Amino acid sequence: MDVEALKKEAGEAACAYVRSGMNVGLGTGSTVKYTILELGRLVREEGLNIVGVPTSIATKTLATEVGIPLADLDDLSGLDVVIDGTDEFDPSFQLIKGGGAALLREKVVAQASKRMVVVADERKRVNVLGAFPLPIEVTPFSHNTTRRNIESVLGCKVVMREESGVLLQTDNGNHIADAHTGASITDPEKTETALLALAGVVQVGLFNNMCDVVVLASSTGVKILEKNV
Ligand code: A5P
Repeated sequence: MDVEALKKEAGEAACAYVRSGMNVGLGTGSTVKYTILELGRLVREEGLNIVGVPTSIATKTLATEVGIPLADLDDLSGLDVVIDGTDEFDPSFQLIKGGGAALLREKVVAQASKRMVVVADERKRVNVLGAFPLPIEVTPFSHNTTRRNIESVLGCKVVMREESGVLLQTDNGNHIADAHTGASITDPEKTETALLALAGVVQVGLFNNMCDVVVLASSTGVKILEKNV
C-alpha cells in the first residue's frame, strides 16, 4: 500500500471519534487532511453537526472549503476532541509535532481538548523520539542567539528552517528552529521544560501526555492504539 493510501485510511477512520454536537479541533498536515475532507462530506451529506477549530491558516482554508462550520477557540467553552497528525510517537504516546510548522496553535488546541486522537502511519512509530528533527518555534528577535542557546541545552546541531530561501515564518509570525538530536529524547518532559526556560523559545514540538489514541494505518489495516493508563 502506498503512503498516501495509508494516510487516507487513518485520516478517515478517525472520524469515528466525532459525533454530532461536538466541538472538534482540526489538526494540520497531510494525514489529517483526509479527516477534514471526510468530516466535510459528513457535514454536507449526512447532517453531521459540529463546530471546528482549525490549528493553522491552511486548515482553516481547507475546512471552510469543505463546509465545516468554524469558531474561535476563545468563543467556546472547550473542545471535545482534537484530531491531528504527528511526526513521531513513542510507546508512551509522547509526540514530536511541528513538521508543518503549526505546533504552537496545535498545542493550544490540544490543551483545550478533552481527548487527542492522532492519525498516523507505521513510519511515525518509534521507540525513542528524535530521529525526526525536533521543531521549536522561536521569536524572530535574536533568533540566532536563541538557536545557539538551544544547541547548548541539547548538545546538538540546530538549524533555522527556511522556505524558498528565506526563514520560514509561522502563522504567528515566528520562526522554526529544527534540533537534530537523533533518536535520543528519552525524557521528553525534561527536554521540553529545559527548552521552555529559554526566553526566545515560544513553544516546543514535544506533545507530552496529550495523546490518548493513535489511529494507525499499516499494510495490514487500521489499528486503534489506546494509551495504557
Ligand atoms: C504540523 O505542524 C505537524 O505537527 C503535523 O501534524 C505533523 O507534521 C504530521 O504531518 P503529516 O500528517 O503531514 O505527516
